[in-house]
Amino acid sequence: MQFARLAGVRAGQRVLDVGCGPGALTAQLVERLGADAVSAIDPSGSFVAAVRARFPEVDVQSGVAEQLSFPDGSFDIALAQLVVHFMTDPLSGLREMARVTRAGGLVAACVWDHAGGGGPLATFWQAVHDIDPRARGEAELAGAREGHLAELCEAPGLDDIDPTSLTVNVRFTTFADWWEPFTLGVGPAGAYVTQLDQARREVLRNRCAQLQPPAPFQVAASAWCVRAHA
Ligand SMILES: C[S@@+](CC[C@H](N)C(=O)[O-])C[C@H]1O[C@@H](n2cnc3c(N)ncnc32)[C@H](O)[C@@H]1O
Repeated sequence: MQFARLAGVRAGQRVLDVGCGPGALTAQLVERLGADAVSAIDPSGSFVAAVRARFPEVDVQSGVAEQLSFPDGSFDIALAQLVVHFMTDPLSGLREMARVTRAGGLVAACVWDHAGGGGPLATFWQAVHDIDPRARGEAELAGAREGHLAELCEAPGLDDIDPTSLTVNVRFTTFADWWEPFTLGVGPAGAYVTQLDQARREVLRNRCAQLQPPAPFQVAASAWCVRAHA
């Protein structure tokens, strides 16, 4: 919701959702613009299938940001919500987003503040590093430190680069509600948990429980954002 608002998405525009995942942003775009005005792309077959099933009228493609299957200047806005840090080649991904956006249109991206400890996984990675100081977190990923998304936008020749940030608050009723998603193997945090044996997983779970306040609790999560013109 906040990211779509930040990008100034409004009726009459054609918008591309790059790295749409299961469709959280796609849903907001459809609500604001109608399904005909929205395209989405993701490399994960299961996410593509889920978004197609949920929004049969949205053009959902299978593919990566680095090689977008859309003609030049197809969109008024190209958005990548929490995706740039997963791209194999973020510069190519942003260059492609600029290519498929019309001249003067908007390219916008956001990535959690993993480096500044403001992201939603800060407590998780703190617990990991308390136990395993050599574990690689997500702080070094593209766009995860202040100013880096804006730097990345310079190479593709984007103009009027405007770095900003946003913060969301998520409430958890129980500690299990917070912990369980880490056991699903999603993203670097999930991958870290699933390669642990049961005993080491329990040690990490207990350390996380020590660091979190008693439930119910709220997690404030900040993301670095950038808006720029094609
Ligand atoms: C954290 S999810 C974000 C999903 C969605 N944008 C959202 O905000 O809910 C990251 C998504 O990026 C996708 N992804 C990974 N590498 C990508 C790439 N090179 N190009 C486009 N999407 C990619 C993943 O498949 C995943 O769906």
